[in-house]
Amino acid sequence: LAPKPLRGKKLLITAGPTFEPIDPVRGITNHSSGKMGFAIARAAAEAGADVTLVAGPVHLTTPRDVRRIDVQTARQMHDNVMLLAPGQHAFIATAAVADWRPAEMHEHKLKKAEGGVSAPTIAMTENPDILAAVAGLHSPPYCVGFAAESEKLAEHADAKRRRKGIPLIVANLGPATFGRDDNALLLIDEQGQRELPRADKLSLARELIQELSKRL
Ligand code: C5P
Repeated sequence: LAPKPLRGKKLLITAGPTFEPIDPVRGITNHSSGKMGFAIARAAAEAGADVTLVAGPVHLTTPRDVRRIDVQTARQMHDNVMLLAPGQHAFIATAAVADWRPAEMHEHKLKKAEGGVSAPTIAMTENPDILAAVAGLHSPPYCVGFAAESEKLAEHADAKRRRKGIPLIVANLGPATFGRDDNALLLIDEQGQRELPRADKLSLARELIQELSKRL
């Protein structure tokens, strides 16, 4: 029988992009596939954890024994996460949350001006940082963040870890991993670094869950 190192542990995971509406038919999103977060949810459930996955719009099937909450916007993701976070043992933020959203959502589809010249200007406003908000709770779950950096990977990722006030950050060792089935990761915590060499996302997720179970 497979060992269940996370039996009795509650894990909350975010995955995928967010979608920030401009009007009823348009919006701002990104190329996150959600694959890494879904793989982590699967690995955590295999390890015996009670897993809740808050997912932005993705085209993936829910892993077995995982409770899934579908959301569109960063604010919806934030609100669902903040409701659930206080009872969790760990929070893993893999979602590619939009940093900004259109300041207003137009009730009707924006129309081209008749014979018009001017394109609309879309005013933007900042979205909440979900990970920092969870890390700032009075008695936070063990928080794991992800970082995609284009240069000085370890240095920038560790700076992000400290800035967000989280114990562990996982840096994507490029090239861009969006949509791919494999990845390579660098785990950085107070003790130092550990590289998980390139492998398929499910294998990496299982290794990450092993690392997490040592820390819970
Ligand atoms: O600051 P940056 O977006 O690079 O941080 C990435 C980490 O923070 C990821 O773990 C991501 O899921 C999380 N994050 C979040 N809410 C945001 C932005 C990022 O939870 N608004």
